[in-house]
Amino acid sequence: MSKTFLEVIDSRISATQFSDKPVSDEIINQILQILSKCPTARNAHCYHICVVKDEKLKQQVAEHSNNQMWIASAPVLLVFFRDIKKRREVTGSDAEEHFSLVDATIACTYAQLAVENLGLKSRWIGGIDNVNMHKLFGLNPLFVATSVLPIGYVNSELKHNHQPYDMKTVTTFH
Ligand SMILES: Cc1cc2nc3c(=O)[nH]c(=O)nc-3n(C[C@H](O)[C@H](O)[C@H](O)COP(=O)(O)O)c2cc1C
Repeated sequence: MSKTFLEVIDSRISATQFSDKPVSDEIINQILQILSKCPTARNAHCYHICVVKDEKLKQQVAEHSNNQMWIASAPVLLVFFRDIKKRREVTGSDAEEHFSLVDATIACTYAQLAVENLGLKSRWIGGIDNVNMHKLFGLNPLFVATSVLPIGYVNSELKHNHQPYDMKTVTTFH
C-alpha cells in the first residue's frame, strides 16, 4: 500500500488504542529502510532505535513513559535515542552535541510518516524518562531517549477533531 504525500499528511492522526493484529518484520524493515534515507548532520546518523516486541519490556518502557501504560498495548514500540557518544566522536568535541537530538527527532518524524503510509497508526510519546530509559536496553548513558513511537493497526477509523493550525500565528514574511 502506498499513499500520496498529501494523503499521508491528511490521514495521519495519533492513536491510543491498537488492535491485536501483529506488525510483521517486513513492515518493520520497510520503516527502517525509509529511515536509512533520513537527513542527518554530517550524514552521521547519531541516533539509535530499539524495536521492542517483548511484552515485559513494553510494560517497562510504558512505566518509563510517565506510566502511560496504554503504550504497552501496541504490538511494537520504537524507542528513539540520541547517540551523544557517536556525535562527540564525529565532531571531535561536544560542540555539535545538539545535532544528535535533531537527528533522532527527524528519524522519529520520518518513522511516523512511514507508519502512516504503510496503513498503520502511531503516537509520538515525548513524556518519557530520558535519564533512565537506556538502562532497560543495557545501553551506554550517552544514549539518551528522545521519544517512543507505539505502532500498530487500529480497528476503527480515527476521526480528526482538530482544525488546521492558523499558520499566521507562527509565521512572518520578510
Ligand atoms: C514532541 C511531542 C511529544 C508528545 N508527547 C506525548 C505524550 O507523552 N503522550 C501522548 O499521549 N501524546 C503525546 N504527543 C502526541 C500529541 O499530543 C499529538 O500529536 C497532538 O495532540 C496532535 O494530535 P495528532 O497527532 O492526532 O495530530 C506528543 C507529540 C509530540 C510532537
